[in-house]
Amino acid sequence: MTERSEQQDAPSDDAAPSLAPAGLSRRGLLGLAIGSGVAGLAVGAGAGFAGGAAVARADQSTEPYAFFGVHQAGITTPVQDHLHFASFDMMPRTDRDDLVTLLQDWTYAASRMTQGLDVSATGAVSGDAQTPPDDTGEAQGLAASGLTITFGFGPGLFENADGDRYGLASLRPVGLQRLPGFLGDDLAPDASDGDLCIQACADDPQVAVHAIRNLSRIAFGRAKLRWSQLGFGRTSRTTTDQATPRNLFGFKDGTANILADDTAALDDHVWVAASDDPNWLQGGSYLVARKIAMIVETWDRVRLAEQERIIGRDKGQGAPLSGGDEFTEPSFKGSSIDVNSHVRLAHPTLNDGVRILRRGYNYVDGNSALGRLDAGLFFLSYQRDPEQFVTLQRQLSTDLMNEYIRHVGSGIWAVPPGAAPGSYVGASLFD
Ligand code: HEM
Repeated sequence: MTERSEQQDAPSDDAAPSLAPAGLSRRGLLGLAIGSGVAGLAVGAGAGFAGGAAVARADQSTEPYAFFGVHQAGITTPVQDHLHFASFDMMPRTDRDDLVTLLQDWTYAASRMTQGLDVSATGAVSGDAQTPPDDTGEAQGLAASGLTITFGFGPGLFENADGDRYGLASLRPVGLQRLPGFLGDDLAPDASDGDLCIQACADDPQVAVHAIRNLSRIAFGRAKLRWSQLGFGRTSRTTTDQATPRNLFGFKDGTANILADDTAALDDHVWVAASDDPNWLQGGSYLVARKIAMIVETWDRVRLAEQERIIGRDKGQGAPLSGGDEFTEPSFKGSSIDVNSHVRLAHPTLNDGVRILRRGYNYVDGNSALGRLDAGLFFLSYQRDPEQFVTLQRQLSTDLMNEYIRHVGSGIWAVPPGAAPGSYVGASLFD
């Protein structure tokens, strides 16, 4: 089943269950007219809107992805072409109400933007001319563009050096801890960690950036942007009908990924189950982000046969070096696939059956003074338990590819289940 069919459309405002918005004080600082109580949290394609004319920004070329549903969108959703990923820290002296209202406000705005709407009913141009507009406006005229917005909670939200700021310490999933150090890690604090994360994916880069910019603005006074990353050119596929894209080493990436219609694999390897702890995370997942710099200039001087030996697949078709086509299972008998090739070390047969759902993007952050591209893979993976990533990354310590890559950023977040219409993302944590 695809994500699209698992997601539910939001009901009309009339059908929205009661949800009392608490403490909207900081929102007032911005003068945002968003989240007008119960009606404010019930938006979606075709929904009526209280308090002003809601204008879709442009003709939708494709149906937008529903925001509300069992799982958050943006995990099994067909991987879009562009990414803007952002990590936030809660501001000092914020309390539990600030956190809850932030999540409610983010839910409201995200549920609108994913439908191709401005963040509020008055949006970019329909508000009071004497106050700053609620919406920053750069997505005017653009369609929803397949936008999905996925929220995650980092270890520091539950407990950090300041203690149990929000009364959540006892609810922290045991596995939600900073990832252990791995061989060769060269992590920069300004590309790592964060109390909260937002993954915005869209087929138009401006739509993804607009989403992060507006969510960041809404967070004013409550949470502050810690770091963010732009990505282009997806490096995986999550549905059978998506072609396998290529990463910046020029190889097909995403061939052996977990796909949206493989519900058994999703249940086994991606979704937190009812039998897992904690209960509030059931239907959610864990997100690992690794910013991996790729030394492309060195790679580009490597012989083709050697590049293929390192990966374990051929560069043209993406077929395993043991033979067949792209989707033939690799055979590790004999010597055609090097024992330290990436594909062998990452394969389930060598990792007690461990699999993950990969959803990464290429990035280029300019260049160095020496004229080298600051380029790489912004690796994103979803798994039922962080141990799955740890197992794989430890196994990759002898990866032949390590000579050409460097892990420079890292983060882990618990990704709560999808919000029900009328509720907000993460509500189960505060019930
Ligand atoms: C810059 C870093 C990386 C590059 C360029 C890269 C590239 C690739 C390529 C080309 C493939 C083969 C095609 C495919 O099945 O998708 C692959 C497979 C895979 N990679 Fe990576 N990868 C990187 C980092 C990682 C990391 C950090 C992990 C996990 C810790 C990982 C896990 C996997 C897995 C699980 C597979 C599928 C193995 C299989 O079942 O056949 N990769 N990767």
